[in-house]
Amino acid sequence: MPRVQRHRFLPEQVWIDDDRADGGYRSVDRRTDPDLWWNSAYGNVAVVTQVEDGLPHRLDPHWITPTSSASLPSAVAQMAAAAELAPGLKVLEIGAATGYNLALISEIVGQDHAVGVEIDPALATSARAALDAAGYQKATVVTGDGQQGYVPGAPYDRIVSTAAVMSVPLPWVNQTRPGGMILTPFATTLCGQGMVRLRVDGGQAVGPFVLPLEFMLVRGQRRAARFDELFTDEAWAASRVHLLAADPAFLDDRDALFALGLQLPGVHLGTKADGRWMSSKDSWAYIDSAHVFQWGTRDLFDEAVALHDRWQKQGAPGMLRYGLTVGVAGQHPWLDTPDNFIPVRTRSAAATDTRRR
Ligand SMILES: C[S@@+](CC[C@H](N)C(=O)[O-])C[C@H]1O[C@@H](n2cnc3c(N)ncnc32)[C@H](O)[C@@H]1O
Repeated sequence: MPRVQRHRFLPEQVWIDDDRADGGYRSVDRRTDPDLWWNSAYGNVAVVTQVEDGLPHRLDPHWITPTSSASLPSAVAQMAAAAELAPGLKVLEIGAATGYNLALISEIVGQDHAVGVEIDPALATSARAALDAAGYQKATVVTGDGQQGYVPGAPYDRIVSTAAVMSVPLPWVNQTRPGGMILTPFATTLCGQGMVRLRVDGGQAVGPFVLPLEFMLVRGQRRAARFDELFTDEAWAASRVHLLAADPAFLDDRDALFALGLQLPGVHLGTKADGRWMSSKDSWAYIDSAHVFQWGTRDLFDEAVALHDRWQKQGAPGMLRYGLTVGVAGQHPWLDTPDNFIPVRTRSAAATDTRRR
């Protein structure tokens, strides 16, 4: 790390967490605020380097959506250790962004073994320029959709992503050498994220969650909730209502939400007025202080309560007890051991029963 000068990878204007406010970001310009800019460059700070995919955006920095950054130094250090990077391994980084982490990877494996894919052409160009200027001319940067991997450089000993996925792309499995590893942040629509480390063998990638780290989602896997669209007056009038029988506090428990997120893919969670909502592509639930209103093909809150009860009976396992298996047959979460798959709900139990009949 001391050999990679992080400031060389940062643009003059960046954004950092706004510690003067409750959430949000503040803009930092090297020309007008040099002390804060340099402190951010060499602090353990994720420095945002692009917002709103580089498109025109609102000027109020508080409300921006970050879309690229120079990763948090402690996070990439933990990732390098978790991926067991070592000299001579061939590494593909997904989400090259500023090139900062690719420079760190180059220092470990050798720059001619480091390949980065970045979807945003402007970012890829500036990463290339920064890497060249910092002496990493032999590291490769390509512009492309990292979900496809990068075939010309394959096979890789490691694929390391610094952009999160909700579905691990099969090309990553196919482009990793048998015995190699994929390390990627994994997100669910419900909330929590974790870094999963998958060992590739026999056309499958299998492994546990190893670190509680969060990254921005890859372009191509961002999913917006449909709650506002589905929550109409007609739907409200037609919703099924019952008295709240279970404490909805588990909707604020990160461990519970991580487990539920694995089992309820595509289900989002939010807050509206004094209540909480959940939504899928065709259903929603609204939970106030006394009632549950549910609409659509699924009873989403009831599903969540049943899964939460089961999770508690299993001893309320935390993220590090879960893992994933990825292969041509899809992506399956498991608990403790790869043979202990946990159920994944993508439709109502009734719809599943009808299909079976
Ligand atoms: C958190 S940043 C990565 C930071 C980088 N490791 C660094 O230290 O500079 C995530 C990056 O992933 C890129 N990205 C998003 N979707 C992608 C995709 N489908 N393929 C390749 N890159 C993608 C974003 O444009 C962004 O630059």
